[in-house]
Amino acid sequence: MAAQITVNGDRFVEMISERRIKTAVKRLAKEIDRNYRGRIPVFIGILNGSFIFLADLVREVKVDCEIDFLKLSSYGDAKISSGNVRLLKDLNCQVEGRDIIIVEDIVDTGLSIEYIRHLIEPQNPRSLKVVTLLFKTDSVKPGTQVDYIGFRIPSDFVIGYGLDNAQRERNLKAIYRLHAKPPREKAGA
Ligand code: IMP
Repeated sequence: MAAQITVNGDRFVEMISERRIKTAVKRLAKEIDRNYRGRIPVFIGILNGSFIFLADLVREVKVDCEIDFLKLSSYGDAKISSGNVRLLKDLNCQVEGRDIIIVEDIVDTGLSIEYIRHLIEPQNPRSLKVVTLLFKTDSVKPGTQVDYIGFRIPSDFVIGYGLDNAQRERNLKAIYRLHAKPPREKAGA
């Protein structure tokens, strides 16, 4: 049976093990290495959620690279996106002429990616690609372009490996999904 944990009274079930995450990170790093041979891409981690994925990904990548961060807010402490993306920390690097790779922990509605594209494209990067560990296929806005995907998952709320539950549980090594409560049984059924 899959490992389970309880967080603030909510039950979470292991969805993606540490071993499967490691394999996916290696695969993504290989793809990036193949596509950026002879270039020096800038990985832009989207804080806070991507910090663990970014750290693991760049240590698997063999090409020379630079690293910067953007900080966005859309979830607050809730379990669904507020639909409002706010910029909390801007880039420090020069974007013009550079090969930019946005690093997301998860693409849910795709609003953050859309916001980031509108922020970065006018600065004339040489190229702009997106890598995400998780991609919620059912909730993403049609037309959201993501170039490298670790896992396609349903729209469950997930935690661990950088993803938080009201800022906690980011340090879990595996990814866990919120266990749906079974519908209440009818009395006497
Ligand atoms: P989007 O803008 O709706 O695509 O959401 C992107 C951001 O929402 C991610 O970078 C996460 O910070 C957060 N997020 C989306 N889904 C989840 C989840 O299931 N657990 C925790 N955070 C999530």
